[in-house]
Amino acid sequence: MTQKGILAFSGGLDTSVVVKYLQEEHDMDVITVTVDVGQGDDHKKISAKAKKLGVIKHYNIDAKKEFAEKFIFPSIKANALYQKKYCLATALARPLIAEKVLEIAKKEKVSALAHGCSGKGNDQVRFDITLRSGSDLPIIAPIRDKNLDRETELKFADKHGIQIDTVAKKFSIDQNLWGRAIEGGVLENPYSEPPDDAFIWVKTKNLSDKASYLEIKFEKGIPVEVDGKKLDAVKIIEYINKKAGNAGVGIVDHIEDRVVGIKSREVYETPAATCLIEAHQDLEKMVHTKHQNKFKSLIDDEWTYLVYSGLWQDPLKNDLDGFIETSQRNVSGTVKLKMLKGSIRVVGRKSANSLYNQEIATYGTESTFDQRLAKGFVELWGMQSTEANKLQKKRSTKT
Ligand code: ARG
Repeated sequence: MTQKGILAFSGGLDTSVVVKYLQEEHDMDVITVTVDVGQGDDHKKISAKAKKLGVIKHYNIDAKKEFAEKFIFPSIKANALYQKKYCLATALARPLIAEKVLEIAKKEKVSALAHGCSGKGNDQVRFDITLRSGSDLPIIAPIRDKNLDRETELKFADKHGIQIDTVAKKFSIDQNLWGRAIEGGVLENPYSEPPDDAFIWVKTKNLSDKASYLEIKFEKGIPVEVDGKKLDAVKIIEYINKKAGNAGVGIVDHIEDRVVGIKSREVYETPAATCLIEAHQDLEKMVHTKHQNKFKSLIDDEWTYLVYSGLWQDPLKNDLDGFIETSQRNVSGTVKLKMLKGSIRVVGRKSANSLYNQEIATYGTESTFDQRLAKGFVELWGMQSTEANKLQKKRSTKT
């Protein structure tokens, strides 16, 4: 009996090649699953493409809401920027896609799980670990297993009549609601500036001279309103992607350390993530004590590192989730962002839970802060440091 294999299918070069490979080399019937995490692709086209490749069944699953609420929102709470830059767009989507593939794998009683990840990237780590956490079925990853490169894949695609669009020929793209990653081609030289046509979400030319503003209201760490409009999770992100992208905000270009140790040059368009994390972080500073602020950034960093590294399922990540969740109880309020020609700046924030007290902070006559108390405080605060320095000086003059 022919075996059944299931494949997470995007319709791009890698996964199209994998369909053919599973059919030809593994003699498998292939079921494809496309999980909609806001990549903006046309489902009908992808489904038609899968059928054309000869799959026995194709599933399209709309997981946008789940992605926004259960994956993106926790990352906002964690101010998740890997190596201070990357908002984890791809990293957050992979465990969700793999979970959906597993659900259908069980229903369809398949004998193998497949994905189109290479052995050089992070996605193999994220897919394998999620799949392994829920199933003992073999995992087939032909691009990795056969050590395929892009040229060979393009030739293979050509030979099998697989159509690849022109952007995909120039760059390797992965996009979803939270961001668009652009890799490969000319970008592989880390010194060469990304050409304008690499960008689709963020405007790079003819930007307006007039500043635009974004007002984001948070409740317990998650955005609930933007510019006075109450919108659901998906809509809020879409709205900000559009408005901030139009103002030229959200391009990230950095050198990234991959899980497998490769350093890569990564270019992203992440307008909503840039704005929401900037605003959220600012609001936290207003409602948290300095001790909370200092400690939470350690937790945030670890959470981000685990998620980037494919360890969404690790118990430590759940433990950190617990901390982060309670830390958000007072993170409610509104942040005002100003955007101009690609720059972004917080220009205002307010919260009913604010620990900012103008009577204490002011330099004016209405101040309630008794400066005289500071003298003793400073004396004690610096006591050990000044003692250590005195001793050091004494010793060095002796020798
Ligand atoms: N470097 C990013 C990550 O590992 C984005 C990778 C996107 N590219 C891709 N082929 N999936 O999450």
